[in-house]
Order: sequence, then C-alpha cells, then structure tokens
Amino acid sequence: MKTLQIQQFKQFKDEITRFMMMYKFALDALETKIEILKEEFQFLHDYNPIEHTKSRLKSPESIINKIMRKECDISFPSIKQNIKDIAGLRITCSFVSDIYRISDMLQGQNDLTILETKDYIKHPKPNGYQSLHLLVGVPVYMSDRQENVCVEIQIRTIAMDFWASLEHKIFYKYKEAVPQTLLQELKQAADSASALDRQMERLHNEIAEIKESNQEVAGDEMKQIVIRDQQFQIPAALLELMDYGQGND
Ligand code: GTP
Ligand code: MG
Repeated sequence: MKTLQIQQFKQFKDEITRFMMMYKFALDALETKIEILKEEFQFLHDYNPIEHTKSRLKSPESIINKIMRKECDISFPSIKQNIKDIAGLRITCSFVSDIYRISDMLQGQNDLTILETKDYIKHPKPNGYQSLHLLVGVPVYMSDRQENVCVEIQIRTIAMDFWASLEHKIFYKYKEAVPQTLLQELKQAADSASALDRQMERLHNEIAEIKESNQEVAGDEMKQIVIRDQQFQIPAALLELMDYGQGND
C-alpha cells in the first residue's frame, strides 16, 4: 500500500515537473527570439529598444490558488486552458514607440500565434495602469510531442514599470484596502509617468533628427554594429558598398 502511494506521488511529481518544463521551454524560446530581434534592431536603428527583460514561472501553489478562485477543474488540461499567465515575460523599453515596434516584430513572427492583445496604453486602467499585454502561443518541440504553449508578455516603458511596481507594493502592504487619498495620488503619479514618457519620446526624436543631419555632413562616418554584445566600428561607406555588392549579385 505504502509503495503504491510513493509510486503515485512520484508519478504526480514527474507530471508537474514535465508540465512546468513545457512553460519554461516556451520562455527560453521566446527569450532567444527577443534577443535576436534586439540585436537586429540595434544594428538597424543604432540604439537598443529593450532596457531589460524579465521572465517568471508561476509557482504551482499560485496556479492551484488561481484555478480554485476561478472554480475550474483541477487537472492539467483545465489549467492549460484557463490559466494564461503560467509563463510570463516582461519587456521594459525606453520609449512608447518601441513598445509598438516590439509588439509588431513579435506579431510578424510566423511561428508565434497572437491569442490576445490588451492595450492598456491606448486605454489605461482607471487606476492609471499602462502596459501592452500580449498572449502568445509558442510552439515547443519535445522528444515525443509538440505543444503550443501560452505565454503572457507585458511590454512597458521604464516609467510605466516604476509605477506598476510601486502600485503593486502598496496594494500588497494595504491588502487591497488602500486609502482613497493614496489612490488619487497614484493616479496622479501615473499621469506624471505618462507625461514623462511623452517628453522623453519627443527629446529622443529631436536628438535622432540632429544626429541624422550631422551624418549627412560628415562623410567619414563610422557605424556601430553589435554582435553577441560586442561592439564593432565599421565605416558606413563600407557597409553601403557591401549592400551595393549584394544587390548586384
Ligand atoms: P489576472 O487574471 O489577474 O492575471 O489578469 P487578467 O486576465 O484580468 O489580465 P490583465 O491583462 O488585466 O492583467 C494581467 C497582469 O497584468 C497582472 O497579473 C499584473 O501583472 C498586471 N496588471 C494588470 N493590472 C494591473 C494593475 O492595475 N497594477 C499592476 N501593478 N499590475 C497590473
Ligand atoms: Mg496574472
């Protein structure tokens, strides 16, 4: 009897581990994809659109709590069907326009399925929360099967991220009974964060314009390319020549 229980427990543990691994692989695949897009973007536009990325797996305990809150079946298929944020990836950008660029780049990847988009930037939540949320299906290839695994991606600016992490801490501290004055101040802080994002974007565009007109004047411009986090300086004229060569092949 005891041996049977131990065996059942071991089998259950293995099933949970395999289930969670599937989400981990989806995150790994997505992070590699984003790293590639980031390096390519750096090359094409001469700056890095992604400040940082952070991924997390929901703990089995939080998964069970959420499935019970939702009053759904407690089974692996039901969990897969009903809980969409087991794997989460947060991408922090410098500018709002980068958020949409990254979202477009992800939407353009043939192997990803965009399951849902929630634009809390065009339509902020009443408390002031802003971010772009995507639910994407990532194909994961294992030894005996292929699964389409859901990952929740949150894309936001540094200012939006700063606000959201503070708001989360306040809610955690007050256990959701946050004083009204604090809620009003949080909303004002969200508006300030939003104004800062707009100002930074405007400055960024102005700087880009100045840079462009300076480059037109300087003929011996060097272009920076980054490969595997290593920076290389290459004369822009040489790059143009290489493009020219390719076009004539
Ligand atoms: P959950 O079932 O709570 O995961 O959310 P949902 O299905 O309503 O999805 P939604 O896209 O609204 O939110 C998903 C995640 O976005 C949350 O788990 C948070 O990480 C983040 N989020 C959404 N709203 C807020 C907010 O008001 N404040 C903060 N700090 N984070 C938020
Ligand atoms: Mg969530």
